[in-house]
Amino acid sequence: MSQNYPSVVESSEKKTEVRAMFNAIAGRYDLLNRVLSAGIDQRWRRRAVALLAAERPKRILDIATGTADLALLATSLQPEKVIGLDISAEMLAVGREKAARHASGELVELIEGDAEAMPFEDNSFDAILVAFGVRNFGDLGGGLREMNRVLRPGGSAVVLEFSQPTAVPIKQLYGFYSKHILPRIGGAISGDSGAYKYLPDSVAAFPYGDAFLKRMAEAGFASGVCERLTFGIASLYKAQAS
Ligand SMILES: C[S@@+](CC[C@H](N)C(=O)[O-])C[C@H]1O[C@@H](n2cnc3c(N)ncnc32)[C@H](O)[C@@H]1O
Repeated sequence: MSQNYPSVVESSEKKTEVRAMFNAIAGRYDLLNRVLSAGIDQRWRRRAVALLAAERPKRILDIATGTADLALLATSLQPEKVIGLDISAEMLAVGREKAARHASGELVELIEGDAEAMPFEDNSFDAILVAFGVRNFGDLGGGLREMNRVLRPGGSAVVLEFSQPTAVPIKQLYGFYSKHILPRIGGAISGDSGAYKYLPDSVAAFPYGDAFLKRMAEAGFASGVCERLTFGIASLYKAQAS
């Protein structure tokens, strides 16, 4: 069993370690998502896409697209194009296979690249989506500033990320699940026990709620709002680029 355990502290090493980890688990990533979240993860992604429906964005960027679940769901908004960006070639390879089988897959282009130094001009996109990506950045502030740069002014960024439930007894139950059950099931199915220890540890170390909205505001975003999903196990953040 391989042991990828990236640092949960922001650094350039973290980025290299995160890429290696996702390259290692890419083949089992979608299966693990469905098993570990009992399918709720796709409901959360659909809610993220729904937050953009009224804006009818034509050019959409899905950052840290991984195996392209969110990019493919975003085609329901009938955009001209969805670009998915990720640093893991293996995750993108799985995503390309899925796009080839998807009815609107031709709208999706998957590009290998770093969210913290994106290969796009300023104001290139009408909307940005990121699901379970920002927690993995080597430099969160740098990645959020890049998002603000490539979005047109007034364009929306929607971020879906794990957070921490606060209500009793959900907090205790979820704490037990993420500490004891999730790493075991994740390790057994993915063959990488470290990766599924990194998941709860990185969630515990990551800002959520108002603290995350503050990071978005510091990166130049305005009018940030947060919506807690499933007792606060995940949160959706939406804000406008300046
Ligand atoms: C947990 S997966 C999420 C994938 C997908 N968004 C989803 O909803 O399933 C995190 C992804 O972020 C990517 N990632 C991490 N840091 C990145 C960076 N700096 N630039 C681009 N992608 C990054 C990883 O390679 C991985 O595919």
